[in-house]
This record gives sequence, structure tokens and C-alpha cells, in this order.
Amino acid sequence: MANRIVVLTGAGISRESGLATFRDADGLWAKVRIEDVATPDAFARDPTRVQGFYNARRAQLRDPAIGPNAAHLALARLEREHAGEVLLVTQNVDDLHERAGSTRLIHMHGELMKARCLACHGASAWRADIAPDSACPACGARGRLRPHVVWFGEMPLAMEQIGAALEACDLFVSIGTSGNVYPAAGFVAEVRGRARTVELNLEPSEGASLFDEAMHGPATRVVPAFVDALLRGA
Ligand code: APR
Repeated sequence: MANRIVVLTGAGISRESGLATFRDADGLWAKVRIEDVATPDAFARDPTRVQGFYNARRAQLRDPAIGPNAAHLALARLEREHAGEVLLVTQNVDDLHERAGSTRLIHMHGELMKARCLACHGASAWRADIAPDSACPACGARGRLRPHVVWFGEMPLAMEQIGAALEACDLFVSIGTSGNVYPAAGFVAEVRGRARTVELNLEPSEGASLFDEAMHGPATRVVPAFVDALLRGA
């Protein structure tokens, strides 16, 4: 029975909640180029376009039809009922893990429902559009807000805390991620050999061969099944 569990999630866990992934055929990067909306250069070049891309994603996340699914809820149950430690590291910027009840949670790529101020560097809760003259809730500076989302070329958040948790874990579970983007894609290589490694994904990811075990299928089926087995002591 595992004691210290680290769970990594990606866009696939939110797919059945109605949010697009990135690299599937109908994914976000099939519709818009990373270079145009998800890099610091894109923001410097055309802030209106970048803000518009994230304003649209934030508006979708406010839609009452979008909510946590059985996979998010199963991970919140694991945190509540597992006797040992559970840390959930997500690459997702949606708030579905929080809304499912997960609390020991790190958003390593930031959060759509927060705005970051370029003047005071604070990140504040922000559910509306970010407009050109929006004022920072913390320092009041106008026109200095950007999405609190980590862009390509920027450092993911809380990497020291994540590294320490990976160092200590005896079970690593990767859910709904294609294994294309580092450093998250490299976590399994860091722990394999000393932790049990499991992939729960619709189909084998880029890093599938690095995992001890895999369950392939939709997250709303395979994640509750895996959590039930884990809580039964499997
Ligand atoms: N259930 C489980 N897995 C699914 C489902 C589903 N219903 N639907 C899709 N998937 C899987 C896909 O097979 C794929 O392996 O989810 C994965 C999604 O991969 P990506 O679209 O690459 O998303 P992700 O791995 O989270 O991307 C990582 O890349 O663009 C950056 O910052 C962005 O955080 C993102 C990072």
C-alpha cells in the first residue's frame, strides 16, 4: 500500500468536462499557434490578441455547464480517504480540481482564474476579462495585468516543492497528459525504480514505456476505478 502519492494531471482529465486539450485533433493548438498566444514574445508583440485568447478560455470556464467530472472527484476522495500523503500537481490552469474538493494542489502552469500584476508581481483572483485598463486588486496599478499562466519559455511554478514531493513519493500517477512538455514529462524518469509508476490516459502517452503500469481509457472510467482499488489496498 502506497504511503506518499504524487498525482500529475494534464488536459485529458478535464476533457470530459467539456474543456479542449492541446494536442488532440480538436485541441487548442490545432486552432491557434503557441507562438501567437502562449509566449512572452507574443504578449509583448500583441497583448490584445493574447488577452483575448485567455479571456475566451476564462469565459468558457465560467460557463455553469463546465464542472468537475468523476475523475476530478475521485482524486479529491483519494486525498480525503488515503491514510498517507497525497499531492496533486496539475499542468491545468482550470479550477476543476479545486471545485471537486482537492486542497493539496499545485498549479505548476498557473491558473486561468488569477491575474498577475507586472507592477507588484502579485497574483490575484480574477474571473472576468482582463481589459487594457484593468486595475491590479493588490496595488491598484492600471493596465499592468497579464494572465497568471506560465507561457512557453517561462519557469513552471513551485518546482522546488514538486521536486521534494517526487523525491519522497512511493507512488507516482500520471493522468491525462501526453508527456510532450517538460519538466512535467520528465517526472516519471525522476521517480522510476524507487516509486511505483502508473499512467492513466486515453491512449499511451509519449512516455508510456517509462511506467510500470497503465490503464488506458477515458479518465472518468479509469481514474475512479484506480482510486477505488488503491483505497481497497491494491
Ligand atoms: N481521458 C483521459 N485522457 C484523455 C482524454 C480523456 N477523456 N482525452 C484526451 N486524453 C489524453 C490525450 O490522449 C493526451 O495524451 O490527454 C492528453 C492531453 O495531452 P495534451 O493535449 O498535450 O495536454 P497536456 O499533456 O496537459 O499538455 C501539457 O502543454 O500546451 C502546454 O501548458 C500546456 O499544460 C499544457 C502542457
